[in-house]
Amino acid sequence: MRSAALIGTGSYLPDNVLTNFDLEKMVDTSNEWIMKRTGISERRIADKEMATSDLSIHAARRAIKSAKIDPLEIDMIIVSTSTPDSAFPSTACSVQNGIGAKNSYGFDLAAACSGFVYGLDLADGMIKSSRYDTVLVVGAEIFSRIIDWEDKSTCVLFGDAAGAAIIQVSEEPGIIASYCGADGAYADADLLGVPAGGSRMPASAATVDQKLHTVKMRGQEVFKLGVRIMPEAAQKVLDTAGVSIDQVDLVIPHQANSRIIEAVGDRIGIDPEKIYVNVNQYGNTSAASVIVALDEAIREEHAKVGDLILLTVFGAGLTWGSTLIRL
Ligand code: UT7
Repeated sequence: MRSAALIGTGSYLPDNVLTNFDLEKMVDTSNEWIMKRTGISERRIADKEMATSDLSIHAARRAIKSAKIDPLEIDMIIVSTSTPDSAFPSTACSVQNGIGAKNSYGFDLAAACSGFVYGLDLADGMIKSSRYDTVLVVGAEIFSRIIDWEDKSTCVLFGDAAGAAIIQVSEEPGIIASYCGADGAYADADLLGVPAGGSRMPASAATVDQKLHTVKMRGQEVFKLGVRIMPEAAQKVLDTAGVSIDQVDLVIPHQANSRIIEAVGDRIGIDPEKIYVNVNQYGNTSAASVIVALDEAIREEHAKVGDLILLTVFGAGLTWGSTLIRL
C-alpha cells in the first residue's frame, strides 16, 4: 500500500543562549518565577543578520543528509512559520534556492504553533494521493523579532529555532494517522497573536509606538485551551489508528510550558517517562517546537526505527492537530 514515511530529520538552534538570569536584568522577573511557571531555563536567539529562511536552510540540509536523498528529488516544500522573512515572496522560495531543490515548488503555511503538524498532514495527503513522492516540511521561527522585550508576561516564553523533515512515499506504514482542527471563533489577536502589520491594521508610526507588532497573549486562557485540546487531538488519531496509548513509545507535545505538558500527559494517560520534553532548553519555538524535539529525540536515541511516535500540538487561530508516526 502507498504510504508516506518520515525518512530524515534535521534541526538548527542558534548558538546565542539567553538565560533566565539574563532576563532578570531586562525585565522585572526572576529565574525562580520562570522555572516554576514554565519550566524554561534558557532559549536561543538568532543572530541579527539571520532570517527565518537561513535557519530553515540549515535544518533542511541536515534533514536531506539524514534522509540520504538528493535535493533534486524534492517535489514540494512547506515552510510553516509565523515569522516569515517578509510578507512576500515566501520564505519557502528562499529555502528552495538555498538547498538547490530546483524541481520543487513551495509555499509558507500559517498555523502558528500547529504549523508543523499541519504541514505533515498536507505532505501525507499529497503523497498518498500519488501527487508527489518527496516533500520537505520545515517548521521555523524567529519569535525574538516579534517579542515585546519589555513585556515580562511574554518575553520569557519564546525562542528561535528551525526543524525539518523529509517525507517520502513508502511501502511500509509511516504516517499512520493524522488529524488537524481549527476554531476561528478564537481568532482574536489579543488572545494570542500579533495585532498590527497586516491588512487589518497596517504598519504606521502609531502602531509601532504602541508595540502592536509584537506578540499579545492572555496566558491563562491559552493555557486552559492547550490542556484541553492537545489530549483531544491525540485521542482522535489514536482512535483512527485503532492504537491504545500503551502501544505508543514516545509522545511529543507542543513545547510551550512544562506544566501544560505534564497536564496533557496526565490526561492522555501516558507514563511521564514516555513524554519528550526540551522546553527547558529552548522555550516555546512555535512551529519549530515538535520537529526540533523529534529530531533531538532521534539523535539521542529516545526515538528509534520502528517506534510509534505521537505528536500533539495547538496554537493561535485556534489551531490544533496530532500525528501518529511509525519511525
Ligand atoms: O504556543 C502556545 C502559546 N502560549 C502558551 O502556551 C502559554 C500558555 N500560558 C502559560 O504558559 C501561562 O499562563 C504563563 C506562563 C504565560 C503565565 O503563568 P500563569 O501561572 O498563568 O500566571 P498569570 O498570568 O496568572 O500571572 C500571575 C502573576 C501576575 O501577577 P499578579 O497579577 O498576580 O500580581 C503576573 O503579572 O505573575 C506575574 N507575571 C510575572 N512575574 C514574574 C507574569 N509574567 C511574569 C514574569 N515574571 N515573567
